Amino acid sequence: MALVQTMGLTKIYGKGDTAVVALDHVSMEVNEGEFVAVMGPSGCGKSTLLHLLGGLDRPSEGEVLIAGVPLGRLADDALTELRRRRIGFIFQFYNLIPVLSAAENAALPLTLDGADGAKAKNKAEEWLRRVGLGNRLRSRPDQLSGGQQQRVAIARALVAEPALVLADEPTGNLDTRSSREVAGILRQVAKEWGRTVVMVTHDPQIAAYADRILFLKDGAVVDETRLDHKNADNATMVADKMSDLAGAT
Ligand SMILES: Nc1ncnc2c1ncn2[C@@H]1O[C@H](COP(=O)(O)OP(=O)(O)O)[C@@H](O)[C@H]1O
Ligand SMILES: [Mg+2]
Repeated sequence: MALVQTMGLTKIYGKGDTAVVALDHVSMEVNEGEFVAVMGPSGCGKSTLLHLLGGLDRPSEGEVLIAGVPLGRLADDALTELRRRRIGFIFQFYNLIPVLSAAENAALPLTLDGADGAKAKNKAEEWLRRVGLGNRLRSRPDQLSGGQQQRVAIARALVAEPALVLADEPTGNLDTRSSREVAGILRQVAKEWGRTVVMVTHDPQIAAYADRILFLKDGAVVDETRLDHKNADNATMVADKMSDLAGAT
């Protein structure tokens, strides 16, 4: 079943002569429990797509449905509630709060939603253990490596048990080893913990962790590949495909 569906999704920034068509009638689906990567050159509309999927912004035209609910029909407060309870976000620069511990950062979505403090703390610690940070619960962000900070952000994205996790260049600021760790955890989020994951990346090594890759160019989906995880050299295949698409006019 499709957890995410878009129909003719279009986003135009600005008006008149300076208008930019960031997304141009994108129709796609992501199934429940699927791990999808979105790839494409800088400026092709990847972040715009992710923001619209997460209800952080509204489309100029077209529709996003999450679990069959058209986001365009929701009032602002209902959209905020859906975003807080059903969707987890992960960003390139982690967006952790410097003065809070790993556990306090991870608990934040529950605390802000008015959850009982002890319950929020237990949930946060449980997710931090799952992402391999059980021994860093009380560390502040500046005491953690980039990869560890991103794992705190993953725990924070999962703490409210969302159905959908959206990650925008989650490895964009990490070294190769941490990048692979984070990509491996995101795959686990989908395959073991049953969430639906949509990840934007321009790194073929990282996209190779996904079940399926959507290639975006000039605001449109121009190609799609399903990955066979018994094939060890997906990364090379994805890189070749990227350069083919970059070369094509
Ligand atoms: N808030 C905005 N105002 C005006 N133009 C924007 C805004 N956000 C993005 N754009 C433009 O829309 C296009 C797609 O941007 P974006 O979705 O950020 O691409 P990507 O994430 O693939 O690099 C780009 O041309 C970008 O300059
Ligand atoms: Mg972007």
